[in-house]
Amino acid sequence: ALVSMRQLLDHAAEHGYGIPAFNVNNLEQVQAIMEAASETDSPVIMQASAGARKYAGEAFLRHLIEAAVESYPNIPVVMHQDHGQSPEICKGAIELGFSSVMMDGSLLPDGKTIADFEYNVEVTRKVVDMAHKLGVTVEGELGCLGSLETMQGDKEDGHGADGVLTLDQLLTDPEQAAEFVTRTQLDALAIAIGTSHGAYKFTRKPTGDILSIERVKEIHRRLPNTHLVMHGSSSVPQELLAEIRQFGGDMKETYGVPVEEIQEAIKYGVRKVNIDTDIRLAMTAAIRRFLFENPEKFDPREYLKPAREAAKKVCVARYQQFGAAGQA
Ligand code: G3H
Ligand code: 13P
Ligand code: NA
Ligand code: ZN
Repeated sequence: ALVSMRQLLDHAAEHGYGIPAFNVNNLEQVQAIMEAASETDSPVIMQASAGARKYAGEAFLRHLIEAAVESYPNIPVVMHQDHGQSPEICKGAIELGFSSVMMDGSLLPDGKTIADFEYNVEVTRKVVDMAHKLGVTVEGELGCLGSLETMQGDKEDGHGADGVLTLDQLLTDPEQAAEFVTRTQLDALAIAIGTSHGAYKFTRKPTGDILSIERVKEIHRRLPNTHLVMHGSSSVPQELLAEIRQFGGDMKETYGVPVEEIQEAIKYGVRKVNIDTDIRLAMTAAIRRFLFENPEKFDPREYLKPAREAAKKVCVARYQQFGAAGQA
């Protein structure tokens, strides 16, 4: 059934686990997530970015998720809008039937100018007022995703702050977070702790100076009842990078967020963990391998099947690693 995200996050908090929130753009990704959830008895958060809506089209995306709900009636599913850039976009998603929306007021609607605190409070509060009347959950964001190695905002998907940032911008302040939560009444808070979107997060396996789980703990200490969200939380498995390179891909050395760091963060209030890149890597590795090993094949079903299988493997692993397995 389609459920509100608040319901799932409250349950996760009560039982001390985290829920991976996977981005979806097409049929095979939706199927992979549902097969993984079904096999592990996990609750599902599927999220659609602006890029996803542009790629697939609103109606296709919505009906794909509705098809997932219909095909797996016993699994709770959240249809979440990822990174809404304005209250109008969130309103549109709510009208389309999304059960959860993210108002990302950390940036202005251009997606690259850092917003001031008052602007963020105002737009987030506006979405909360509109959404809560309808039982729709709201995620907000305070702080700017970006790299503590380069002090650059996150740019890989064309959405992220311009220019060189300060430590204050790249790490969410616990005291300001408390004011933000009180004034907006949001349901879930995305925080900045050194993660960024895409495959190129860290040039080495991250240590505490460039990935601050310490900051998660500080925010949780100040806001023990707020559901925290980690964006940019793909782990970028080295074996997937190796497989991509082995079969003709060209990806530079890079590191993601280690699963054990996410597991630590889950002990301190993180309930939603956003993952897109790992699914992209898994599907690309599988497709490269298949086409390399079967150069005579041309039926898309033949290479999309192993791609779907590889995506499912990632999802099963995260459901188990974050403790969501068995909780649906
Ligand atoms: O917000 C980042 C997600 O990975 C979505 O990426 O904007 O390329 O769809 P996208
Ligand atoms: P990754 O790029 O690390 O998968 O992050 C996805 C994300 O945060 C979507 O909002
Ligand atoms: Na989101
Ligand atoms: Zn994100």
